[in-house]
Amino acid sequence: PAETPDAVTAPEATEAPVVNENPTYIVGIDGEYPPYSFINKNGEPEGFDVESVKWIADDMGFNVKIQAIAWDGIIPALQAGKIDMVYSGMTITDERKEVVNFSKAYWKVNQSVATHDDTGLTMEDFNAGKGKVGAQRGTTGGFWVEENLVNKSIITPDMLITYDNFPLVATDLQNKRIDFAIYDRPPMLDAIEGKPLHIIGEIDTGEEYGIAIRKTDTTLLETMNEGLDHLMASSKWDELKQKYEME
Ligand code: ARG
Repeated sequence: PAETPDAVTAPEATEAPVVNENPTYIVGIDGEYPPYSFINKNGEPEGFDVESVKWIADDMGFNVKIQAIAWDGIIPALQAGKIDMVYSGMTITDERKEVVNFSKAYWKVNQSVATHDDTGLTMEDFNAGKGKVGAQRGTTGGFWVEENLVNKSIITPDMLITYDNFPLVATDLQNKRIDFAIYDRPPMLDAIEGKPLHIIGEIDTGEEYGIAIRKTDTTLLETMNEGLDHLMASSKWDELKQKYEME
């Protein structure tokens, strides 16, 4: 039956309206970083990190809005308050720690180096600077090449070519405009799949991924650390590892 006007003035109605008082945090991701974060065919964010943050949000009681941002500008976007955290396979580094805080580490990776199937190039060739290297701009793979090949004059600065996202690197490697590509191993595996490209070696950088948060947002940092603890102890963690084929 339809409510009578009386119902509106019933005592309950004078109490504070029930609203969702959970905060909403904007999560910045690179939309081209499978298996951690990517925009799927339906235009929706997906991936290991994306599902992780949604699970943590449910668990810890907040809402999330996921926003794809150019990787190279993702820390400035965090500092400017356009996003509230970066949850997208970001390596915890001392340089980044000068400007943002990181959650506890949730994943370990190394760098990997790939070449075209036709080149016959080896890891020895890579270390000897025998070719142009492609990397995504603002990544630890590119930083490694700067420190270990460019700064030691093993390659000239113009032999390190940086790109906005990794699909562009893989395309140039496939078209033989560059000789090597360097990237975190899990997304590299994804990028070379089905292409005439293969991994020639790994660099044991022992990197760890963390969630980047503004230095002033100490409460959010605690929330995310607690959420990560819960997630990594839950069955969801194993489910995610299986789903995205990660060990
Ligand atoms: N882990 C590397 C870094 O932090 C590469 C990250 C690239 N991540 C991404 N979402 N594109 O520099």
